[in-house]
This record gives sequence, structure tokens and C-alpha cells, in this order.
Amino acid sequence: MPDISLAQLLVQSTAALTAAGQAGARLEAEVLMAFALEKPRSYLYAYPEVVVSEMHGQQVKALIDERIAGRPIAYLVQERDFWSLPLYVNEQVLIPRPETECMVEAVLQLSLPEDSVVVDLGSGSGAIVMALAVERPAWVCLASDRLAGPLQVVKKNIDNLLGADAISGNTPAKLPMLLQAEWLCACAEACFDLVISNPPYIEDADPYLDRGDLRFEPRSALASGADGLGDIRCIAEQARRSLKLGGYLALEHGYAQQQGVVEIVEGAGFEVRELGRDLAGLPRYVIAQSHS
Ligand SMILES: C[S@@+](CC[C@H](N)C(=O)[O-])C[C@H]1O[C@@H](n2cnc3c(N)ncnc32)[C@H](O)[C@@H]1O
Repeated sequence: MPDISLAQLLVQSTAALTAAGQAGARLEAEVLMAFALEKPRSYLYAYPEVVVSEMHGQQVKALIDERIAGRPIAYLVQERDFWSLPLYVNEQVLIPRPETECMVEAVLQLSLPEDSVVVDLGSGSGAIVMALAVERPAWVCLASDRLAGPLQVVKKNIDNLLGADAISGNTPAKLPMLLQAEWLCACAEACFDLVISNPPYIEDADPYLDRGDLRFEPRSALASGADGLGDIRCIAEQARRSLKLGGYLALEHGYAQQQGVVEIVEGAGFEVRELGRDLAGLPRYVIAQSHS
């Protein structure tokens, strides 16, 4: 490979992504180059004349090729920001979405005890539980998932962002605990003040599962039966038993599922307290309360 400067490689990479129809090609090229070089993006502009090593040149090319093949940028750089936390992610977890931040924000407005015990069901990367632990350091938080892979990702995020050597410096009194289990099957009666979940909620036959970023995300994190509501039914049923009296259930759902979720949680004996929307204004979560 002939000598090539950072500026030239950036132009080349941007052109390759643009030719492949990638929106935001320049920014993506910068992010992927900075990742390969292990430098901040500003380095590309501070030292445009620096000659790229053969190894880095090949790494950048491989990343650009993977991006052109459709692999989500979060998986390529193994990071996605959620609630201002730079979370580690890999292909065993869903890439955290901004719509989930809306549900977290709503839950933080609830009147909950200072020493609340909360569980994030289907924690994936730990996006929800990490945000709650940072915002409510006195809460006792549990991250639960059926699979070991996601729980390893949560562990890494706890160590990186909340543990003794945390870079955030915002350490909760108790670090979130991890539990490998099917929804609330392993949990005792009346032990939680809050059950929160962004469960799988896409219909099994939805063609979007085979398109865009979704193609690369774990099917086990996305699909939930013929109507997409199988896991929500299961969680609502189990949460009634595991929540303390007056405890809250917060569930994210698909934009066309809110009425269905309301019927499910009311059928399970909850009172609906909030019907939430995401930043696009679409129905996105339901918060319900357990009553006597
Ligand atoms: C949509 S992802 C949510 C990940 C993360 N909470 C977020 O919001 O980014 C759903 C998660 O639920 C987990 N899951 C699916 N079925 C489950 C079950 N029966 N019991 C427990 N966890 C389950 C999946 O492994 C996946 O990590």
C-alpha cells in the first residue's frame, strides 16, 4: 500500500461509504478511523498530514467494508452512548435506543422510596440498570437476563463505569447485582418497588427483522411471538406477584402496541399510571402500579 496521509484516508473512506449509499458518510468514516487509530476524532483534524501505518490502513479498510456490508457502527466500535454513559456493546446485546431513555426519564419522576429495590428485566447491555444506578445511587438494582452473554456485557459496563476504577466517578453505594433467569421466575414474592423492562416486542414474522441494523442484533432480544406481546404478557403476570403493594411496572413496547399492553397490564391487576411517548412522539411505554 503506498504511503497515505490521515486526510487522504479520510477522503477515500468517506467516498467509499458515500458510494455505498451510507448516510452521514463523513462522520462514520471519522468514527471508524478514530477507533482504528485509538485516537479521538479531533486527532484526524489536528494531524492531517500524518502517514497512516500499513496496519492501521488495513484496519480502517476492513471496518469500512464491514460498514458497507451493513454491520451497525455501534458493533464495529463496540460502544454506544446511553444516558451519557459510554456503554460497551457487542453482538450478544441489543444496541441501546434513545426511546428507552424516555422510559428511564419517566421512571425517575415516580414517587419511589429512597432505598427502592428495582429489577431491569432483560438487561441486555445494562443500559437501563446503569442509568438508574447512576441517577439513584441508594437504590438496590438488579440486572437480569436469560442469557449469560448479555450479563457479561453488563458486568463489563459496571466495572468500567461504576466500579472501583470507574471513569465516571459517579459510583452508587451498591453496584447492580446480576441474575441469570427467565423473567421473574427466580424472584421472591413482593420484593421489588419497581420492575422495568424493554423486552423483545417485535412480531416473529415482521419482515423488518431481516432488514437494516436489526439483521445483526440477537433475535432473542427482538422477537416475541405472533403478536410480539408474548414476553410482555409473561412479565405482567409475574410482576404482579413480585412487586410490593404500590410498586410500579414500566414496560417499553412497539409504537402500535400501547392499547394491547394496557389491556394486558390491567388484566394482570395493575392500574395504568402513565402512557408514554418517545422523542418522535410515538406511543412507547406504559407505567402501571400494583394495588391491593
Ligand atoms: C430488547 S432487549 C433489551 C436490552 C436492554 N434492556 C436495552 O433496553 O437496551 C431484550 C433482552 O431480554 C432478554 N430476554 C429475552 N427473553 C428473555 C426471558 N425469557 N427472560 C429473561 N430475559 C430475556 C434478551 O436476552 C435481551 O437481552
